[in-house]
Amino acid sequence: MKPYLFAAIGASFFATSLAVHAADVPAVLQSKCASCHALTKPESNSLDRLWERKGPDLHYAGNKFNKEWLVEWLQDPAKIRPAGEFYRKHVKPGTKEDVVDESSLAPHPKLAREDAEAAANALMTLTDPDGLIEKGAFKDQKVAMSMGAMYFNKLRGCAACHSAVPGKGGLSGPEMATAGKRLQPDFIYSYIKDPQKIDKGVWMPKLDISDADLQKLTSYIVQLSAKEDKKMNSRNSISFSWLTSIGLISLLAFMEPAAAASDDSFEHAERLYDTYCTQCHGVNRDGNGVNSVFMSVQPRDHSDAKGMGDIPNSEIIDVIKKGGLAANKSVLMPAWGGVFSDEEVNQLAAYLRHVCKCGSDQ
Ligand code: HEC
Ligand code: HEC
Ligand code: HEC
Repeated sequence: MKPYLFAAIGASFFATSLAVHAADVPAVLQSKCASCHALTKPESNSLDRLWERKGPDLHYAGNKFNKEWLVEWLQDPAKIRPAGEFYRKHVKPGTKEDVVDESSLAPHPKLAREDAEAAANALMTLTDPDGLIEKGAFKDQKVAMSMGAMYFNKLRGCAACHSAVPGKGGLSGPEMATAGKRLQPDFIYSYIKDPQKIDKGVWMPKLDISDADLQKLTSYIVQLSAKEDKKMNSRNSISFSWLTSIGLISLLAFMEPAAAASDDSFEHAERLYDTYCTQCHGVNRDGNGVNSVFMSVQPRDHSDAKGMGDIPNSEIIDVIKKGGLAANKSVLMPAWGGVFSDEEVNQLAAYLRHVCKCGSDQ
């Protein structure tokens, strides 16, 4: 579509159109956004697709976003994912912890108001036909912020990957300070309950969380953005605008998994490790992941022969499946049993022995 046509399409057209089927994604999105975003449900759920995608999936955008936020954000797109999409392609070893390679992150395209409104209206028509989101699940019971923070930071370890306060917290997941403005509460609830149901393969684990705790966490996240609003106003608005540096070429340098192990028999486990574990355990498997900076308990150094050699296989398998708490370790080590098959857990455990060059495979 020609640019002038794009600009000319008014909001009213999309506002009146009905939910789209796969075949008729609004042209305004198809022409400008489809190169980076899936606008229809992807056919493949493979890890390869996760590694290749250039932006988050938008095929269920109408069930995810608040329209007012979309209109504003598309005109002035502040960073949501500190380490980009997807994090592993944008982090590299630093002097101690891994760091985000800012030069590999390009600014998001900016739209003029009229185009932003047309695009937002079009996005709101992309609704999910599969019942991914539980409508009415969020009961909107207020939670004390101190209680919410305790769940988010200490009891559930969400802060290992997310920042609730800008600049403090993990970098591999979206920032949460403005999530309440960005996202519909039922989406927040449904996502925390089962991230893989919404985005198969995503590197947030499905955790076993009761409805009562899901309500608390969702309320806390919704309330956070109201709090952040107040702060922003009193500070006279500091803009968290996108990075100005562009260095797409250097991105290629981080596309390949670290050379920690290259044995073919570990190919799948190594891919899993790169996708799910390096965010905390580090590109070099040394415990210095990009999230580790703000973590109160440091991730295990998997390259340490002595430390890893002392852990029996049964414990390694238990911890991967059920999380740190299963072995009286920190909740910051999440449970991955909701994401991997038993076979994959066993492969990961064997791979860890290969990385540390220690212990036995028995
Ligand atoms: C060059 C690739 C690229 C193009 C083109 C692009 N986007 Fe994006 N988009 C991204 C990336 C990368 C992110 C993640 C940004 C972040 O998290 O900070 C993103 C994020 C978004 C988000 C927030 C998604 C979320 O889940 O948080 C929306 C909404 C969005 N884009 C809409 C659009 C629309 C509408 C267009 C077309 C007008 C478009 N994008 C074009 C790469 C792109
Ligand atoms: C191991 C890292 C990790 C942990 C632990 C984690 N998350 Fe996430 N979370 C992510 C990632 C990665 C995404 C989605 C990334 C994307 O869409 O690009 C995500 C997405 C979300 C979203 C949707 C946000 C959006 O903008 O799409 C919410 C809400 C959320 N997480 C809440 C939580 C809560 C609450 C906890 C604790 C119970 C938690 N997360 C634990 C990594 C994590
Ligand atoms: C959100 C951050 C995070 C992610 C993601 C993560 N870990 Fe961990 N992991 C930790 C922390 C923190 C510890 C240290 C826990 C402690 O010592 O109390 C740890 C410890 C471990 C241990 C040692 C357990 C023990 O008994 O001492 C193993 C094994 C392990 N992780 C494997 C993995 C694997 C495999 C993955 C990927 C599937 C993974 N971890 C992903 C944070 C993480």
